[in-house]
Amino acid sequence: MTEKALPDRWFSARQSRRAVALVLGWSLIANLGAASAPLGPATAASQSAEVAPETQQPFAPLPFTTDENPAKVALGERLFQDVRLSRDDTLACLTCHQLAEGGDDGLSRSMTARGIALARNVPTVFNVAFNASFNWDGGVPSLEVQAEGVLLNAQVMNNTWPELIAKLGADPDYAAAFRALYPEGLSPANLVDALVSFERSLITPNARFDRYLRGEHRALSAEELEGYELFKGYGCASCHQGINVGGNLFQKFGIFQDPDTSRSPAEQADLGRFEVTRVARDREVFRVPSLRNVALTAPYFHDGRTRSLKEAVATMARVQLGRRLSPQDVDLIVRFLHTLTGEFRGRPLTVPAQESP
Ligand code: HEC
Ligand code: HEC
Repeated sequence: MTEKALPDRWFSARQSRRAVALVLGWSLIANLGAASAPLGPATAASQSAEVAPETQQPFAPLPFTTDENPAKVALGERLFQDVRLSRDDTLACLTCHQLAEGGDDGLSRSMTARGIALARNVPTVFNVAFNASFNWDGGVPSLEVQAEGVLLNAQVMNNTWPELIAKLGADPDYAAAFRALYPEGLSPANLVDALVSFERSLITPNARFDRYLRGEHRALSAEELEGYELFKGYGCASCHQGINVGGNLFQKFGIFQDPDTSRSPAEQADLGRFEVTRVARDREVFRVPSLRNVALTAPYFHDGRTRSLKEAVATMARVQLGRRLSPQDVDLIVRFLHTLTGEFRGRPLTVPAQESP
């Protein structure tokens, strides 16, 4: 597989978008993803059965564990933090998806080692197993396709399979670890499989909101509950819903009002799914993002235009719902959103002080 066949627009700076090449690239690499179980809707549906009848909500709590093979997860974790995954040994997945923070990098848009500004804000890798599609435009159908895309993307990891397999295969530890887990040893599909096993293990259960959904009524304060009612009452939940409180729908950014793209730090407007489908109605349509751990994942929106969660909520109400919220209502909704912060490996993820409500 050549770099040319890959989704070269995937990360590219605005000027070099080529959606057609992108779509062709996906169809070529899609068979990699077919090897593993489907993600998203099926998983979400099986989770919703866990909601106690007296707390029927448009949401479902995250599970406490996943059934990933622990040895594959451990191998995937090593790969995730290994800079050798990039051609010039400068970037690891962890560089942009920091697990000690929100699973992102805290920047509006990050720069690659070669000084190229990525087209979009880095989304979190936490709870990705529960998203129905990937990237801001939802244009990537599986985590496998996503992983191969980033490894071979000239503007990110900039690798080719022969070079990457030769480099990692020269490390006797990797060669042995792959042989122990996969009959064929280290191969492109097995490398992707290990990486994706790790990504699927990145769940952040036991948020106070999840405890509430499991029937622990005191898990939310009166104000947070009021915020939850407003979140449902104003209609936020019609888009941000399901087990990930988002991640399973596409919607236009700016239904009632232009979201003011002049505020965007990006040099050109991002047309979202239109870049993938070239269908007019997909202009400025994006995947509705998951709001899990949203208090930790500033800056917000596909272009990282604001660090303030209050501003993000007020913008949403204005442009998606045609409502101007009072500062009190914004504050209550933000308090509710803070209850979506979960635990990673048994420890609560922490909210940076300046973003506390
Ligand atoms: C230089 C920064 C950078 C590096 C390094 C990086 N990513 Fe990302 N990642 C991003 C950006 C930016 C996006 C969003 C791209 C878009 O929407 O077009 C993204 C998106 C993703 C997503 C989709 C999440 C979702 O919910 O849609 C996953 C999964 C992911 N990356 C995993 C990885 C893995 C695995 C690696 C290592 C092989 C990696 N990333 C390396 C910046 C990075
Ligand atoms: C019609 C669908 C829709 C409704 C209603 C909606 N949203 Fe959104 N929301 C989106 C989409 C789409 C995005 C991504 C926009 C972008 O960056 O392109 C988003 C992004 C966000 C973000 C930024 C997340 C991040 O990680 O950057 C927050 C926070 C948010 N919404 C909260 C809310 C709240 C609170 C409400 C109710 C006041 C709400 N949304 C109503 C569709 C919706």
